[in-house]
Amino acid sequence: MSTDLSARRSDFPELSQTIHGFPICFLDTGASSLQPRSVLTAMTQYYETTHANVHRGVYETAEHATALYEGARVKVGRFLHAPHPSAEIIFTKNTTESMNLFAASYAKAHLKKGDVVVLSEMEHHSNLLPWILASQNHDLELRYIGIDGDGRLDLSNLDQLLKGAKVLSITGMSNVLGTINPIKELAQAAHRNGAIIVVDGAQSVPHMSVDVADLEIDALAFSSHKTHGPTGIGVLWARQEILESLPPFLVGGGMILDVRLDGFLPAESPQRFEAGTPPIAEAVGLGAAIDYLNEVTMEAVREHEIALNEYTLSRLSERFGKDLVVFGPPAGSDRGGVFSFAYKEIHAHDMAQVLDRYGVCVRPGHHCAKPLMRRLGVSATARASLGLYNTEEDIDRLIDAIGHADEIFG
Ligand code: ALA
Repeated sequence: MSTDLSARRSDFPELSQTIHGFPICFLDTGASSLQPRSVLTAMTQYYETTHANVHRGVYETAEHATALYEGARVKVGRFLHAPHPSAEIIFTKNTTESMNLFAASYAKAHLKKGDVVVLSEMEHHSNLLPWILASQNHDLELRYIGIDGDGRLDLSNLDQLLKGAKVLSITGMSNVLGTINPIKELAQAAHRNGAIIVVDGAQSVPHMSVDVADLEIDALAFSSHKTHGPTGIGVLWARQEILESLPPFLVGGGMILDVRLDGFLPAESPQRFEAGTPPIAEAVGLGAAIDYLNEVTMEAVREHEIALNEYTLSRLSERFGKDLVVFGPPAGSDRGGVFSFAYKEIHAHDMAQVLDRYGVCVRPGHHCAKPLMRRLGVSATARASLGLYNTEEDIDRLIDAIGHADEIFG
C-alpha cells in the first residue's frame, strides 16, 4: 500500500509547467531532482537579508551567515547520523568533487605502489575515474566486482577480491539498474579484509534512510541537487580520524592555520577541505531540503517509491511484454526507482525525443556508466527515474508515450 505523497506535488513549482502543451511529467530525478518551494524561499530570503561571506567578518550579518552555513552542516550530519556532524561533513561542489577529493587525498596519504582498490562494474564515472586517476598516479591495482544477469553484484568471490585490498569504493544504488547494494554486508567484508569502504551515495541518500554509523562505513558522498536542494553543493562525509589523516585537496583562502612564504599549516577538518568562499546560499538551500525530507520522512519516501516501482514494472510488462526490457533487479521492493529500458530496436535518443513531445522527461544515453553499458551489451538506454512527487498517473503517461514511439518507429 502506497504512502500517499500526492499532496506534496503542489510543493514543487516546476510541476505546474507545461511542455509542448502537456503538463510536465518529470521522470528524470536520477539526473537532478526538483526543489520544493521552501528551498527556493530559504535561498531567496538568505540573499535578501543575510548575505555576507562566512568565517571572516565580525559584523552581525556575517555572523548570522556563518551560523546558517554551519547550521546546514550540522543538519546534513544529523541526516546521515554522523557521529560528529560539525567536523565530519565537508561541503564540495557535487558527488564528483567529493569522490575526487577523497580518492586523491586518501591515495596520497595512505596508498603506495601495488595497493589494491576494489570497485564494481556498475559504478558511475564519478566513482570510477577518481580511482583510475589515483591508480595512474600511485601505481595501484584496481579490481572489479562483477554483476549477475539481474544486475546485482556477484558476491561469490568477494573475500578473494578484497584480499589484500586497502579500499572498497562502491555505489549505494546504481543510477542505471536501480540495484540497491548490501552496504553493511560489504562494509563488514571490507573491514574483515583490512580495507576501508567508501560509498557513492548520489542515488541512495535522496531515496532512503542512510545511517553511516549503522552501515559501518568509512566515507560517503552525495549531491544536493539530487536531494531536492540546489545545484553547486555536494557533501563528503568521512570518519573524523580518517579526515584528520588526509592532506587538503584544494588550497587557498579559508583553509589554513598559518601561511609563510615557504609553506602553510592547514586548518582542522572541515575547514581544511573547503578552500575559498564556499557555496553559502546553496548550503542554506540544502539545509532547507533536509528539513523538507525530515518532514516527509525518508521512510515515507522509500515506501512510496517501492509501491510506484511495483506499479511501473507490472504496467510496463502488461502493456509491452517482452518487447520492453527493463535492466536491473526484477522486483520493485528490491530496487530503487530507476528504470533503464530498451524497447524493440528504437534508439534511446529517439525514444526520449518522442516522449518529450508528450511532456514526459526521461534521460537517454550511457548515464556516465560506460563500462556498465558494455557489460549490458548496449550503447545507451532510455531511463525513467522517480521522485517523491511522482504518481501512478505519471507512469500511465510514460506508457502511453512509449506507445506513441512504437507507432512512429516500432
Ligand atoms: N549522475 C546523474 C545521472 O545518473 C547525472 O543521470
